[in-house]
Amino acid sequence: MQILGIETSCDETAAAIVVDGVRVRSNIVASQTELHRAHGGVVPELAARQHIRAIVPVIETALADAGIDRAGIDAVAMTAGPGLAGSLLVGVNVAKTMAWALDRPLISVNHLEAHIYANWLGLPGEEPPPPPRFPLVCLLVSGGHTELIAMTGHGLYRHLGRTLDDAAGEAFDKGARLLGLGYPGGPAIQRAASGGDPERFALPRAWLGESYDFSFSGLKTALLRLSEPYRLPASPEEPFQGSPSGPFREHRPVQLVGDAPVADLAASFQAAIVEPLVVKTVRAAEAFGARTILLAGGVAANRALRDALTAAAAATLGDTPVRFPPLVYCTDNAAMVAGAAHWALRRGDQAGWEADVVPRLALV
Ligand code: KG4
Ligand code: ZN
Repeated sequence: MQILGIETSCDETAAAIVVDGVRVRSNIVASQTELHRAHGGVVPELAARQHIRAIVPVIETALADAGIDRAGIDAVAMTAGPGLAGSLLVGVNVAKTMAWALDRPLISVNHLEAHIYANWLGLPGEEPPPPPRFPLVCLLVSGGHTELIAMTGHGLYRHLGRTLDDAAGEAFDKGARLLGLGYPGGPAIQRAASGGDPERFALPRAWLGESYDFSFSGLKTALLRLSEPYRLPASPEEPFQGSPSGPFREHRPVQLVGDAPVADLAASFQAAIVEPLVVKTVRAAEAFGARTILLAGGVAANRALRDALTAAAAATLGDTPVRFPPLVYCTDNAAMVAGAAHWALRRGDQAGWEADVVPRLALV
């Protein structure tokens, strides 16, 4: 079963061909990061327009890379939500058009489920990894979501906890902005934190009692206070970089003084995000008798998170493996969409022509 996956939920235009949910034949991602950088975040209107420009060439390249033509596609899958409505509409309508024209099944995929199924994928030309064993606990951490989920089988999810305010990736992005590290924030914080002392600054962790929920907004405020003394005053002549009508009109790049302890601030901030994520995930895995722990989403690319979770699981749970996707499948991509679609189609989850975008789609 050779599935074309299409992903346009946020600011990456992506298409991929995946065989049987595990073998990636091609995986093309056209990133819009440069387009949005000057605004300090994704501007929905710009994102939707750019998807329209990019989607057809991206799909053509995915087909060419896989060495197949359109007739070789067995099914077409697209992300239907959650995400930005205008962005989702592009992928959904292209997928519907292709499925209809080729007379193939259409599969509507939840973006969050796709992130989880990134853990089943092998890199192109490589053997897929052994399938994760159920029951499992998955920490899904991205720019828009922070969810702790238990999974008892394919497509069977149980909600354990989620963020009450900012997503983990959003916290990284906002923290990076406060430290003048630019956008996107996760990789910038990780880079700045290397060599920094994660214990130099005591930043708050929101434990929220015994719950599996998270909160990162207090941490952001604490970082603002810590970094304020090092901030250079914004020059009134500095050219305004935000979009005058967009959601980021207050955006002005922050600059810190030359001798600000940026590495220690970034390392301490990163540690304060990572610690509650790790502690609660391991506690959930223990409580639910998980046979695997999965990391998924853009923040699963974070080295400190991967290392801390692996170490904590080994110390507490012994031989329960901690798995995370290769870097290219952590951030938004279409291979994970085609991958998740395979399991959905096996359960008979086919979409009709009335399929629509669901910007606030939940997983459970
Ligand atoms: O999954 P994703 O590509 O998009 C969403 O579905 O949201 O996640 C993007 C998020 C951004 O907030 C970005 O800063 C974060 O993932 N991210 C990272 C790293 N790489 C990407 N966060 C921490 N460390 C990283 N290395
Ligand atoms: Zn995502």
